[in-house]
Amino acid sequence: MTTGNILVIGANGQIGTVLTETLRNAHGNDRVIASDLAPAATAAHGPFETLDILNAVRLGEIIRQYDIRQVYHLAAILSATGEQHPQWAWDVNMGGLFNVLEAAREYRLKVFFPSSIASFGPFAERQNTPQHGPLEPTTVYGISKVAGELWSQYYFLRYGVDVRSLRYPGIISYQSMPGGGTTDYAVEIFHKAVLEEPFTCFLRDDTRLPMMYMDDAVRATLLLMEAPAEQVKLHTSYNLSGMSFTPAELSAAIRAHYPGFEVQYQPDFRQGIADSWPESIDDTDARHDWGWAPSFDLQAMTLEMLTRLREKYGR
Ligand code: NAD
Ligand code: SER
Repeated sequence: MTTGNILVIGANGQIGTVLTETLRNAHGNDRVIASDLAPAATAAHGPFETLDILNAVRLGEIIRQYDIRQVYHLAAILSATGEQHPQWAWDVNMGGLFNVLEAAREYRLKVFFPSSIASFGPFAERQNTPQHGPLEPTTVYGISKVAGELWSQYYFLRYGVDVRSLRYPGIISYQSMPGGGTTDYAVEIFHKAVLEEPFTCFLRDDTRLPMMYMDDAVRATLLLMEAPAEQVKLHTSYNLSGMSFTPAELSAAIRAHYPGFEVQYQPDFRQGIADSWPESIDDTDARHDWGWAPSFDLQAMTLEMLTRLREKYGR
């Protein structure tokens, strides 16, 4: 096994839950160590270690104990929660990344660090936002992602650390609930539809945002991490695109399956965050450099989400 043992930090979150399971299916349960602030579902099928990523000593202990060679560093405070607790979000997002980068330098680890469409701000082109261009985010979450991208590149250039990164769109999944982001409505709406309850959306009906189904997000992550080093040409973070839609378009796609589904709109502070982000993303570099192409569009994702959630709720 060339990858060696793998540590997932923030394994209990929306992405970590699915990524940990996928990695365990590929490499064996015992080779993938889940970690988070407390045990949860990821502790059930393989090793789990309690880890606050701000504790560098504990991180080093786990790396040595399991002879870790790769780290997926998913622990972060997301955009909406970050705006409610800016200092804490900065401390966790930057302090956590520094601990991971320093450990990667010391133990020669390969690292995955997720960035976000939140790296872009109001001065970026909103349609087909290019890979290179103004960033200037207005959220603490976005500021931490831009800084994280640049520090990742710095550790690559200065110390030769193999850090790879994607600017994820809003991720949609049925396995677990999202953790305090601005795109969370696009997951919550499916639960309400399947439970046949009305949904109140915290964004305006015409708010177009880049989104991606979880299967595509995990596939892109593994494609990038497994790509030969010479194919990874960007050491900040790759733009990544799946689909783009508005709450009104998503509601219409759900109504094709649930004609009576009711949606109301009550925009809150998250509208301002969404308004500062791109509507769609140009991911030409990812497609060209390591062969990225998404599989799920709005219709395919909607059918899959409704099918899986019906199974989950026994409906
Ligand atoms: P999430 O909020 O669902 O999960 C984050 C996990 O990190 C949680 O389980 C939490 O307990 C853990 N965590 C928080 N603070 C920690 C700490 N100090 N030490 C250890 N663990 C801690 O987030 P997610 O949606 O799974 O996102 C994972 C990563 O992907 C994040 O970096 C996020 O910024 C990025 N991302 C996510 C999306 C998305 O739509 N989900 C989009 C773009 C980027
Ligand atoms: N889904 C994330 C958020 O809304 C984007 O990074 O915070």
